[in-house]
Amino acid sequence: MRKKVIVGNWKMNHCRNEASEFVSGIKDEVKIAKSHNILIGIAPTYMSLDVVSKKKPAGLILSAQNVNEHASGAYTGEVSISMLSEVKGLTHIIIGHSERRQYYGETNERCNAKMLAMQEANLTPIYCVGETLEQFEANLTKKVIKEQVVTGLANLSAEFVSKMIIAYEPVWSIGTGKNASKEIAQDICCFIRKEISKLYGKRVANKVIIQYGGSVKPNNVKDYLTQPDIDGALVGGASLKASTFIELISNLY
Ligand code: PGA
Repeated sequence: MRKKVIVGNWKMNHCRNEASEFVSGIKDEVKIAKSHNILIGIAPTYMSLDVVSKKKPAGLILSAQNVNEHASGAYTGEVSISMLSEVKGLTHIIIGHSERRQYYGETNERCNAKMLAMQEANLTPIYCVGETLEQFEANLTKKVIKEQVVTGLANLSAEFVSKMIIAYEPVWSIGTGKNASKEIAQDICCFIRKEISKLYGKRVANKVIIQYGGSVKPNNVKDYLTQPDIDGALVGGASLKASTFIELISNLY
């Protein structure tokens, strides 16, 4: 059985002291969740990674929100994989979040380059895919997602893909309070699993963790996580306060 994985994406929120307080606040819940076969993760900003790393309880997944695909060089403002590898306990990196695609022009090809570089370093992607409102309304969702999956995952090994997390996040539902229905989310997560199966076979497809993301809140998280192909959630707004995040997690028990 696949584990459930809930990751909080803090985006550009929380200074170091707030990050530190948050980790103290969720320590106990991480343990309780583990006993229910649910893994909890957080993705702080680069600036707070070391603070969280030092304070984090065993079992809390620590993820970065982005990385540069190059090993080193003249890329002002960027952070490399080897720099992130120095952070003790950091295992995951969010790749291709729609805000990075939208505001910083990240393409499927660039996401692929980042994940190829991560494969060398043994870091696990949380690879985000999802359609815009325009694409959704034009009935292009599956075409867009297929392209994101096929191009994004090109030349990655079956072993690497079987361990990764793919987050389906319809762009129109992020931070808007407009969720995709659980039926739509299940349909697309199932479609993603089928695409993985076509590329890598059933064994890998059955292992890969597929999350839903987009306005996941304490009152709707269970609707998503009880769907057969939804193994977790990538949570933005509702992951910012420890109390709300705990409420969201504990609503799954
Ligand atoms: P949201 O963000 O939960 O605030 O909609 C989700 C995300 O961007 O991962």
